[in-house]
Amino acid sequence: MGEKGFYISKPVGVVAIILGVGALATIIALSVVYDQEKSKNNEVSPTNGGTTSNPITTPTPSNEPWDKYRLPTSLVPDQYHVTLWPRLTRNETTGLYIFTGKSTVEFVCAEETDLILIHSNKLNYTTLENGHSARLTSAGGGVAAPSIKHSWLKIETQYLVIQLDGKLVKDQRYHLYTEFTGELADDLGGFYRSEYTENGVDKVVATTQMQPTDARKAFPCFDEPAMKAVFYITLIHQHGTIALSNGMENSKSFPIMEGQNVLVTAFAPTKKMSTYLLAFIVSDFGFVSEITEGLLIRIYARKNAIAANQGEYALNVTGPILKFFEDYYNASYPLPKSDQIALPDFNAGAMENWGLITYRETALLYDTEFSSNSNKERIASIISHELAHMWFGNLVTLRWWNDLWLNEGFASYVEYLGADYAEPSWNVKDLIVLSDVHRVFAVDALASSHPLSSNVDDIQKPAQISELFDAISYSKGASVLRMLSDFLTEDVFKKGLSTYLNKFAYGNTVYTDLWDHLQEAAVANSVALPGTVHTIMNRWVLQMGFPVVTIDTTTGAIHQKHFLLDPESNVTVPSEFNYEWIVPIRWMKTGNPQAQKWLVKKTDTFVDMKTSGADWVLANLNVSGYYRVNYDQGNWDKLLDVLNNSHQVRHKLCDMIIIRTKIIKTVLALDTTKYLSKDMEYMPWESALDNLDYFSLMFDRSEVYGPMQAYLKKQVTPVFNYYKEITGNWTKVPDGHMEQYNQVNAISLACRTGMEECQTLIKTWFSAWMSNPETNPIHPNLRSTVYCNAIAAGGDKEWDFAWKQFKNAAIAIEADKLRSALACTKQPWLLNRYLEYTLDPNMIRKQDATSTIVYIAQNVVGQSLAWDFVRARWSYIFTQYGGGSFSFSNLVNGVTERFSTEFELQQLKQFKADNAEVGFGSGTLAVEQSIERTIANIKWISENEKEILDWFTAEAKP
Ligand SMILES: *[C@@H]1O[C@H](CO)[C@@H](O)[C@H](O)[C@H]1NC(C)=O
Ligand SMILES: *[C@@H]1O[C@H](CO)[C@@H](O)[C@H](O)[C@H]1NC(C)=O
Ligand SMILES: *[C@@H]1O[C@H](CO)[C@@H](O)[C@H](O)[C@H]1NC(C)=O
Ligand SMILES: *[C@@H]1O[C@H](CO)[C@@H](O)[C@H](O)[C@H]1NC(C)=O
Ligand SMILES: [Zn+2]
Repeated sequence: MGEKGFYISKPVGVVAIILGVGALATIIALSVVYDQEKSKNNEVSPTNGGTTSNPITTPTPSNEPWDKYRLPTSLVPDQYHVTLWPRLTRNETTGLYIFTGKSTVEFVCAEETDLILIHSNKLNYTTLENGHSARLTSAGGGVAAPSIKHSWLKIETQYLVIQLDGKLVKDQRYHLYTEFTGELADDLGGFYRSEYTENGVDKVVATTQMQPTDARKAFPCFDEPAMKAVFYITLIHQHGTIALSNGMENSKSFPIMEGQNVLVTAFAPTKKMSTYLLAFIVSDFGFVSEITEGLLIRIYARKNAIAANQGEYALNVTGPILKFFEDYYNASYPLPKSDQIALPDFNAGAMENWGLITYRETALLYDTEFSSNSNKERIASIISHELAHMWFGNLVTLRWWNDLWLNEGFASYVEYLGADYAEPSWNVKDLIVLSDVHRVFAVDALASSHPLSSNVDDIQKPAQISELFDAISYSKGASVLRMLSDFLTEDVFKKGLSTYLNKFAYGNTVYTDLWDHLQEAAVANSVALPGTVHTIMNRWVLQMGFPVVTIDTTTGAIHQKHFLLDPESNVTVPSEFNYEWIVPIRWMKTGNPQAQKWLVKKTDTFVDMKTSGADWVLANLNVSGYYRVNYDQGNWDKLLDVLNNSHQVRHKLCDMIIIRTKIIKTVLALDTTKYLSKDMEYMPWESALDNLDYFSLMFDRSEVYGPMQAYLKKQVTPVFNYYKEITGNWTKVPDGHMEQYNQVNAISLACRTGMEECQTLIKTWFSAWMSNPETNPIHPNLRSTVYCNAIAAGGDKEWDFAWKQFKNAAIAIEADKLRSALACTKQPWLLNRYLEYTLDPNMIRKQDATSTIVYIAQNVVGQSLAWDFVRARWSYIFTQYGGGSFSFSNLVNGVTERFSTEFELQQLKQFKADNAEVGFGSGTLAVEQSIERTIANIKWISENEKEILDWFTAEAKP
């Protein structure tokens, strides 16, 4: 799945910054507490008769095959013929939207058995002429199939269970036929409906989100990634609508069915593929298309969006990005077409269905009038991420979900490479350091983090699978793969990748298969390594966390240590490697790059890192390694000096800016922000702001806040004036992509710290818009920050105006800016009303409910309101959003982010105890991590507050 559904916003999205919460606010951490999950897994659940046509309730012993979450290996699907008919109008009698379907799956019997288990969830089956919900026949001659003895639905493990009178014969093929009905609900999973209004007409789209385990909600199937098959899909739909699926539309017919004139669209058979990559969509959307080197590329969206040309940018970048990946993988695009579609309701950012990628509207549609450069970058990155999956993930698929990190980590790394190819002037490759590496450091520094790799046995239930879609899988996965590519060199990395993809095309792998191919490439190209790819990577993949490498330049001594946010926290999970890593070290001495070194044990001495005089050492250049670096005080002082005086090395020093830990004294870290007033560049500012945002969170309710604001105002003033000048008093846009970002930083920080000139400026803009709503004078790049500050400074008049604009916005990108800005008001009653709106899908779409609550919690005034709201509505919110939705853990982490007092810790523990019964679903581990984070925050504040207050007070003086 694309774009880390658990992020509220990209770090380059201005929203987080203006709200005073950057990386830390938007990182949502999950950890896997294995023991706890294991014990849950062992629970014996009573058999549920289900809703089949012939329910049978049997007292169930716990170890029957249908009590296990994994399929037996006795049957192997080969092809499916599936016909689905989604009804886009509500049945007045039942009040439901439904779909009906028929399916034949052809499978091969690999081991003799008298039992068929096939996944099925929330489907009602028609009783066939044999009195059962399925019909079994043998395929291609051979012996007749045994007849069906019993069939029933096993709700807990999501199976249609079919017991036979006799055995299936090894190597014989069979057809299993079913007819079924399902609800086309608005639940964003499986075959679901999305609704919107266009030109006053209410419209319904039928669409799908199968990953990870919801294909079984659309038709009965062997719903595991290794059960690859060929799919012959047919969709029945009403006139005036179009049908899309993974394959190309092959034939259309116009029969009369159930008394209606309908269209029947049959699709070309798919390649051999996994069920989670299927997609079926019926809509009345429009599209734009082009043919690039024989490949048909289409972008679909609401007709109005297409008419407004909002699909053009996606169309422009898709061809180049596909070309980039063909070259990168040295393999041509495996399918005859590439469709991408923007949906009004979509839970994640995007989903890489093979040949028919689905997106949130904000992730695909670009409008020159409404979209900022950050919106544009997000679109290019997400498209790149999803297209990368067309090979890595789709053509070659990991065998089981426990290896999800490799699939998502890989796409999250190479998305930067593809986007960089499409937009070379943006320098997006640098941004991975802020967006992924630094971001996930904060999560992975917790004792309740978890390793990239999970055991197959620990990942069984759908909720356990959903929990894996977290920052560790995406961002740590991306970070360690980037490190691997860096020390192998990109060329060797690509060679190994290419042989891996060729070898396993249309098949399945485990992550070590990739290591094998990279190892071969490393050997073939004589890359010198201190061990095999396996032995080096095991340290990064099998144990959680990362090291802090300390270099003493007075002696050349170097050592590594597991980095923990709270050094006193107890790591209870043992590691076979004792939390030691094999660390590649790129470094420079006094500005001159040196040959790479490897730290392969706990301590070592590198004599050439010993310095004298004015020489200094800087390690982990470009933050290409997944670790932190610390130095002796003398080297720090010299680095600080360089930072203050030498511009060109400054942005290489990102990693040394503010590390909140005992490892470096906090005030030393704060010292690194002193040079910022001289720096106009984005990377150092963004890096500093990401870190300072933690200070805001911890202190925006304390006496530190005043001096801190005064200091930041002092630092940002020259930058504000600089941008005022180069934009001709805000009349034009800075040239570069990064300059545009830093202009936003300058304005938002200036306004946030109370600079009057800034506040007057944004108020003037906003009132100009209010008095003439037809013409918005605010540049799209600046809208998020201007809206937020204007709403924060205003009252209900401003809020209601923005709400109206939100409801009427013609493009989701504009609506999203307003939706986050509405959370900026300082009026508690407006915030409470807004909180209520989040549970009404007519006000706030379900896909946006949790992120809206988190936006409100990010506002210092909204924090306690949101927490009260979540606690009071827990069981309602849980049943509505708790299911398999991974945005749920975001909610827990988001509303507790500022927690830093004993009282809050007690409340959090109480909350955990009070709701033990209802549970926390996919947010279970987020609760644990919130508690750990709160404890670390309390400690950090008590140890540092006084010093920080003094530091800001002294530095704030003019
Ligand atoms: C609505 O549902 C009822 C009950 O299932 C069914 O009998 C009826 O045919 C349905 N109506 C339409 C228009 O499909
Ligand atoms: C499936 O059957 C159950 C039980 O009869 C019923 O409540 C539900 O509405 C049915 N679903 C559909 C989509 O018809
Ligand atoms: C798409 O490409 C065309 C041709 O290069 C260009 O004129 C147009 O501005 C591009 N559209 C967008 C939204 O970038
Ligand atoms: C770690 O364990 C020690 C000894 O059991 C205990 O005193 C200490 O409080 C624990 N630390 C944390 C952060 O829980
Ligand atoms: Zn992905």
